[in-house]
Amino acid sequence: MKEIPHGLIKGRVTGRTEWTDNEFSLRINAPVEPYLAGQFTKLALLNGAGEWVRRAYSLVNSPNHKSGHQDMEFLLISVSDGELSSQLRNLQRGDTVYVGKQAAGFMTLAEIPAHITDLWLLSTGTAIGPFLSILDELETRTRFKKIVLVHAVRTKAELVYQSKIEQIADSYKDKFVYIPIVSREQCAGALRGRIPQLLQSGLLAESAQVRLTAENSFFYLCGNPDMVKETSEQLVLLGYKKHLRRKPGNFSSENYW
Ligand SMILES: Cc1cc2nc3c(=O)[nH]c(=O)nc-3n(C[C@H](O)[C@H](O)[C@H](O)COP(=O)(O)OP(=O)(O)OC[C@H]3O[C@@H](n4cnc5c(N)ncnc54)[C@H](O)[C@@H]3O)c2cc1C
Ligand SMILES: NC(=O)c1ccc[n+]([C@@H]2O[C@H](COP(=O)([O-])OP(=O)(O)OC[C@H]3O[C@@H](n4cnc5c(N)ncnc54)[C@H](OP(=O)(O)O)[C@@H]3O)[C@@H](O)[C@H]2O)c1
Repeated sequence: MKEIPHGLIKGRVTGRTEWTDNEFSLRINAPVEPYLAGQFTKLALLNGAGEWVRRAYSLVNSPNHKSGHQDMEFLLISVSDGELSSQLRNLQRGDTVYVGKQAAGFMTLAEIPAHITDLWLLSTGTAIGPFLSILDELETRTRFKKIVLVHAVRTKAELVYQSKIEQIADSYKDKFVYIPIVSREQCAGALRGRIPQLLQSGLLAESAQVRLTAENSFFYLCGNPDMVKETSEQLVLLGYKKHLRRKPGNFSSENYW
């Protein structure tokens, strides 16, 4: 067995959920350091040539959930010919997987300017994961007046975690709005199209019944880098500013590739 690289520790798969043929969730237990909702860590395995392959994956559960932060959940898609995701797809309960001891990332509640009242969480595909972690935090429920979760996927089957989203809706009451977008098939109750165009046309705000304002709104964008780029451009056209720690603004993002 090759030496475990610095920063990785041994973990064990404790369960999995199948969503579609190539989308699944893995539950993994490992003695990791505490993390913040919205952060990501590394998962790693050895490849056929005996080399370590590691990639970033976001935590789906809040660090404050009842079985503790060392019980982690991840939402994954197996990318065709993907070196690591195709291996992760085969993991079963009891298997070993290596995990980053320390999580990272700035897509957290602490980075959102204190005066913001309306939080927009815009995701594609598996990038809904870190937003579910953020939504599991009591601080999110108490701090904001409105939280809009937008999840854009190709097909209805990829609208994952429906029962968790229902629980969130129950606990947040009228503070929470969920807007599914399905781009490649008809789906009752979902919008059709893409996030940047739905922002531009005003349909996203109209569906959420939340008014966008530079004073009150903050957007986190996560997932497909083309969505992130085009949505950022659209937000700038609408008069919003990219958020920087030294210069507070309205939006911030995380690219998945
Ligand atoms: C901060 C961060 C957090 C991430 N969190 C997650 C996560 O929670 N779940 C997850 O499945 N992936 C996540 N990713 C992507 C992940 O790190 C890998 O890139 C992905 O699993 C592919 O790795 P691979 O070795 O199988 O494929 P590679 O051989 O590295 O192929 C990469 C290609 O796969 C495609 N791709 C990568 N990730 C995705 C994705 N999530 N959805 C659709 N297409 C994709 C892109 O076309 C990309 O060019 C995250 C990436 C970053 C940077
Ligand atoms: N063959 C390819 O060219 C290609 C490209 C990307 C991903 N993939 C692979 O396909 C699998 C599925 O991934 P996925 O469905 O989770 O990811 P995805 O392709 O990112 O699709 C998720 C959602 O993002 C939307 N989207 C894509 N580009 C966008 C943009 N520029 N602006 C706004 N929205 C955009 C998609 O809309 P649309 O349906 O309108 O695209 C879809 O609703 C992965 O394995 C991935 O690697 C293949």
